[in-house]
Amino acid sequence: MKPMTDFPPRPAVSVGHIEQFQVDDNNRRVTFTTNSHSLSIRILSTGIVHLQLHNGEDIFHDLIRPLLEISLQYLPLEVKPENDTWSILAGPDTTVTVTRNLEITVLRTGTPCFYISHWMYAGTGVFCRLHLTPKERIFGLGEKTGALDKRGKLYTQWTTDVHPHTPSTDAMYQALPVTVLADPTGSRGLFLANTYRTYFDCRSSNFLGLGADDGPLSLYLFPGPTLKQVLYQYTDVTGRIPLPPRWALGFQQSRYSYPDQKRVGQIAEEFRKRKIPLDVIYLDIDYMDGYRIFTWNPNTFQNPAHLIENLDGQGVRIVTIIDPGIKDDTSFPVYRSGIAEDVFMRYANGEAFRSHVWPGQCVFPDFVRPSARKWWARLVADFVRPGIAGIWNDMNEPALFGADPKNPTLGGFANDAGLIHVADDSRMVSHDGIHNTYALFQAAATYEGLFQAGVDNDGGRPFILSRSGFPGIQKYAAVWTGDNSSWWEHLAMAIPMCLNLGLSGVPFVGPDIGGFFDSPTPELFARWIEAGVFFPFARIHSDKGTLDQEPWSYGRDIEAIARRYISYRYRLLPLLETLFEESHRTGSPIMRPLFWEFPDDAVAYDISDEFLLGRGLLVAPILQSGADQRLVYLPQGAWYDPWTGNVMRGPGHHLVPAPLHQIPLFLRAGTVLPIGRKVFSTKQLQGDWKAGRDGADMFWIIRGHGKFVAYSDDGSSQDYSQDVCRRIEMAIDDDNHQTSIVVTPTWNKKVPNVTKSHRFCVMPYPEPPINVRINGSPVPWRWKARTGLVTFALPHPFQSGQRMDILIEHT
Ligand code: GLC
Repeated sequence: MKPMTDFPPRPAVSVGHIEQFQVDDNNRRVTFTTNSHSLSIRILSTGIVHLQLHNGEDIFHDLIRPLLEISLQYLPLEVKPENDTWSILAGPDTTVTVTRNLEITVLRTGTPCFYISHWMYAGTGVFCRLHLTPKERIFGLGEKTGALDKRGKLYTQWTTDVHPHTPSTDAMYQALPVTVLADPTGSRGLFLANTYRTYFDCRSSNFLGLGADDGPLSLYLFPGPTLKQVLYQYTDVTGRIPLPPRWALGFQQSRYSYPDQKRVGQIAEEFRKRKIPLDVIYLDIDYMDGYRIFTWNPNTFQNPAHLIENLDGQGVRIVTIIDPGIKDDTSFPVYRSGIAEDVFMRYANGEAFRSHVWPGQCVFPDFVRPSARKWWARLVADFVRPGIAGIWNDMNEPALFGADPKNPTLGGFANDAGLIHVADDSRMVSHDGIHNTYALFQAAATYEGLFQAGVDNDGGRPFILSRSGFPGIQKYAAVWTGDNSSWWEHLAMAIPMCLNLGLSGVPFVGPDIGGFFDSPTPELFARWIEAGVFFPFARIHSDKGTLDQEPWSYGRDIEAIARRYISYRYRLLPLLETLFEESHRTGSPIMRPLFWEFPDDAVAYDISDEFLLGRGLLVAPILQSGADQRLVYLPQGAWYDPWTGNVMRGPGHHLVPAPLHQIPLFLRAGTVLPIGRKVFSTKQLQGDWKAGRDGADMFWIIRGHGKFVAYSDDGSSQDYSQDVCRRIEMAIDDDNHQTSIVVTPTWNKKVPNVTKSHRFCVMPYPEPPINVRINGSPVPWRWKARTGLVTFALPHPFQSGQRMDILIEHT
C-alpha cells in the first residue's frame, strides 16, 4: 500500500452519528455504533483512557500485547445518557463524554484534557483529530529528523532503511506512533496502537490529525498531568527497559568491517596500550562466510574462540551483527533447517518470498510465527554460547535491495504486496500490518536466545542493539539511530532525535559517534566524542571505505581528548546505572530535554541543542565548525561550571568558552554525581559487588537543595528483580550557615555489606568551612581555594538502615 500524500485523502467521509450503544465486558467497555463503524471506550486503573474505532485486523492487541506480556486493568464504568450525550464515569476522577456525532471529551477531576472529533474513513483508512491548544508543543514520534518540537509537518510511521537522511526525511528505521504534548501548563500523551502505516499530521495550529492505512484507530490517551506521569503511563502500556548488563554502558567501538580477527585483536590492544577505556568491539557483516548469518569466514576469522578468549583477557567483549536475510543456498544449513521447519515468509499463494540483501538472494524468517521465534532463539543461543556477548540486529525494517537484475524472474522481487505472515496455524496477517513490528518480533526471539545462552553461562541480562523497532522495542533492545553522516548537522540532529526517542519510551539510544557515511574532520570527531560519551548508548561506527575512525585516528591531540572524555564516561558509570534503574522503574528517559526538569520554563521547550543527563548534569555540545564558544541556556537556579569554577544563574543565556578540548557542562545546585573509580573496562568492576565495593567511590555534590538515590547492583544478573540491590538516598540542603546532607542507605540481607568508606566532595565554598561533622562528631576535611572544594571521607562504611547526618558549617 502506498503512503498517503493527501492527508486525510479527499474521499474520506464521516463515520456518522451514533445509532446505539452497549455496555459489555463485565461493565468495563462501552461501545457506540454508527451506520458504518463502532467505537469502544475503556478506562484503565491509572486514568488512561482507551478509545478504539474498530476497523480491520487488531494486530496490536492480538499479537503485540501478548508478546510484550502486558496486562492492563480496566475499571468498571458507569454510563449516564442525557440529551444526545453520554457520560462515562470510572474511578475517582475520570469522565468521558460522547456526543451523538462522536465528539469525545476526556475530563480529569472535571477539567477537560482531551477533545477528539472528526472520525472519518476512506477505503481501509481511518482518521480523527485531536484538539491542540495554540501553545502546546508536539514531542516524541520516535526517531524523526528536525528539531525537538515536531509542529509544522506531516509524519509517517513506517520502518524504512534510509541513506542518508536529511531534515526533510520523514519515515525512518523506527516506527513509534507515540507523542507527548507539553507546555508550561502541563503534559499529556497519546499512543496510536496500530501496527499499519500511521500518520501524525502536525501542520495545523489547532489540531493534531491522526490516521492509519488500515486496522483500528486505537488511541491510548495519557492524562499526565506531568511529563513524568505521561512517560510512566505510556510505559505501563508498552513496557519499560530491563536493566542492561553493566558492560553495555561502557564505551564501544565498531566499523564496517574490521577485515580479520588479527585486526580486531590489534584494535583491542591499541585501546589498552593507549589507555583508552573500552568494553565492546562490534563485528560487522564481513566476519561471516559469504554473509551467511551464524557462520564465520574460515579465512579471516579462523578461530573465533581464540579471538573471544584473547579479547576477554583485555576486558573487551564481542557483539556480532546478525541480519534477517538468509542466503538462498541449499547447501547452507540455516537455510535448510528453516525450510524443513517452515519458518520463512511467503506470499498468500504459498510461494516463498525472496529478495536481495547483502548475501544476494535471500529468504526471511517470519518472526510472527511462534515456531520461527523458537527456531531463531535456538540459532542465536548456539551461536553466542562460546562467548559472544550480544547481538546487533541490523537491516530489520526489513531492508531489501530488490530483485537480482540478472535474474528478474527468479522471484527476486522485493514486493511487499501479497506477502503474508502466519500468526498461528489458523491466522494469516498481511505484511502491511506486520511491517512496522518485524524488528520487534525479531528482537523478542533474539532476546530469548541470548537469555537461554546467558542462563547457561554467567550472564542473564541479554544485550541487543536494534536499528528498527516499534513500541515495546525498549523491552528488548538498545537502539542506534542508523546510518548518519559525518556532518555537523548530524551531530546536532542526534540531540533532538535521541531526546524524542526517550520521550517515546525508548531510553537506551545513541548515534554512530563520528558519523557513519563519510569521514569526519578531526575537529568534528573530537566534538562528537565529547558529546557522545554523555548519550545513553556510546559507540563509534563508520562505513566501508571511510578513513579509520578509532579514537587515535586523528592525531595525538584528538586522541588525548577522546581518552579524557571516554574516561569521564567510566567515572560516571554509577550515575548511568542509577539512571537506567530509574528508567526501568518509571519509564523516564536517561538523556532528558531541559523541560523535563523545568516544566514551567517556556524557553526550555525550544532548546534542541542541550540536554540533561539525569537531573542535574547539563551538556551543551559544540555543534559548529570553528566555534570555540557558544550560547548556553541555563534554566532557573544556580549552575556550577566545572571547567572554570564559576557559578552562573538562570534563567538566561550565557556565552560560554569552549576550546577544542572542552564541552560546556554545568552542574545544577543540589546535584549529586556518584563517581566511580578509574577503570579501562567494566570487567575490572566485576568482583566489586561480592566484595562490597560496588557503586560510587565518591559523591560529588553541588551545594543547594536536592535529592538523589544512588543505585548499584551486581551489574550482570537478574537478581535486581528480587530487590538485590543497594540504594543510598541523599537529601541535600543548604542555607547561609550550613550544608546538610542526610544519607539513608537501604538494602536487604542478601546484599553484601559495604567494605569501603565513601568520600564526599562538596562545592563551591569561597572560604574554608568552619567544620564538618558526621552524626555530631567532627571529621578531618580539606579545602581547595581554587575550586572551593571541601573533601572528607566517612569514618566507617555505610550500613543499611543507619542514617548519617553530615553537616558542613560555613560562613
Ligand atoms: C547498515 C547498517 C550499518 C552497517 C552496514 C553493514 O548500513 O546500518 O551500521 O555497518 O549495514 O552491515
